[in-house]
Amino acid sequence: MDLPVIDLDIFLNNPQNSPEVQAECRRAAQALITYGALVLHDSRVSEQDNSTFLDLLEDYFAQPEEELKKDERPELSYQIGVTLENTEKPKCAVDEPCLDVIQRLDPAERPLDIAGHAPDPKCRFFWRMVEQPPYETEFLGLNAPNVTPEAPGIKERWTPVMDQWGSSMKNAVSNLAEMAALGLGLPAETFKDAGRYGPHLLAPTASDLSKYGKRDTILAGFHTDLNFLTIHGRSRYPGLHIWARNTGKRIAVKIPPGNYLLVQAGKQLEHLTGGLIKAGYHEVVVNQATLDTIEKRKAAFPDRPLVRISSTFFWHLSSDFDLAPIPELADEARRLRAEQFNLGKDEGREVEYPPMKVGQQVQSELKHIALMAS
Ligand SMILES: [Fe+2]
Repeated sequence: MDLPVIDLDIFLNNPQNSPEVQAECRRAAQALITYGALVLHDSRVSEQDNSTFLDLLEDYFAQPEEELKKDERPELSYQIGVTLENTEKPKCAVDEPCLDVIQRLDPAERPLDIAGHAPDPKCRFFWRMVEQPPYETEFLGLNAPNVTPEAPGIKERWTPVMDQWGSSMKNAVSNLAEMAALGLGLPAETFKDAGRYGPHLLAPTASDLSKYGKRDTILAGFHTDLNFLTIHGRSRYPGLHIWARNTGKRIAVKIPPGNYLLVQAGKQLEHLTGGLIKAGYHEVVVNQATLDTIEKRKAAFPDRPLVRISSTFFWHLSSDFDLAPIPELADEARRLRAEQFNLGKDEGREVEYPPMKVGQQVQSELKHIALMAS
């Protein structure tokens, strides 16, 4: 099954009230409602920038562990700098509603078994890409300054490469947030403004395939993201599976080469739409396609580290934003839920979306995944 491809160029190059833009925005909203995900085409994005970024991150994560440890900030809940492997737990392994989601999937469509609560064997770097708010934030810990690695050969390349690729993805995803708002019948700036001062993160993950390269190894267990929208550049290794909300099917993600990105809905978008758009479940595993790529890269680039980098950007709402379902969208969510139920698709227990600050929602999610002490 292929995900819908949404063209950001149409939105950027035509008036907002033109029929082409209106139609493309409706397709974007519908893709998020049906699949929780879409493929985004944006001519401004450069494949070369992604490649330069992947090279830098492969080099960074190939460093010895003592070097990487210098960039850890456990006192800030790892929300900046590096997180080493086997720290973060897949939320689903400890979360009941999530196990219920797995139960209701057809056995052939289920993720690899995450029981046993083992943390993920993946490392990650958080690089904040924020606009400082003109007000005092209640959530200082979630808005800490960036860590720059010290090692010669990496230090000089770091900031320009991270900022270049990070800005490409940030621009693409914040424009898509405008498209989604328009497509849902809201003013274009609704989500973009709510996320203007969000603690957005360029958040590449790294998996050492020389250590964790066996078939069916879970690199990141079945979970949803806690932010608003997540955007990914193309990884050099396949292995990302996503679940389409209204189809129950597991989809092996293939992002076409060129100016294409993958976007997935997160928990903040689910909350704000009262469940009309659901956060998309996903996992990263070593499958046959991953193994085939490992062999190909070993032969073509014998001197390069065998590290799977996922080029991920988490777009957040502002920490001080009041998160509560938009009434018209919550009504539509209830209507859709009833319609699905009548079609024989039981979505399980109805989820409550109590009003709260975005910063509180983030802190409560971090406790679940063992990054923040409760
Ligand atoms: Fe994720």
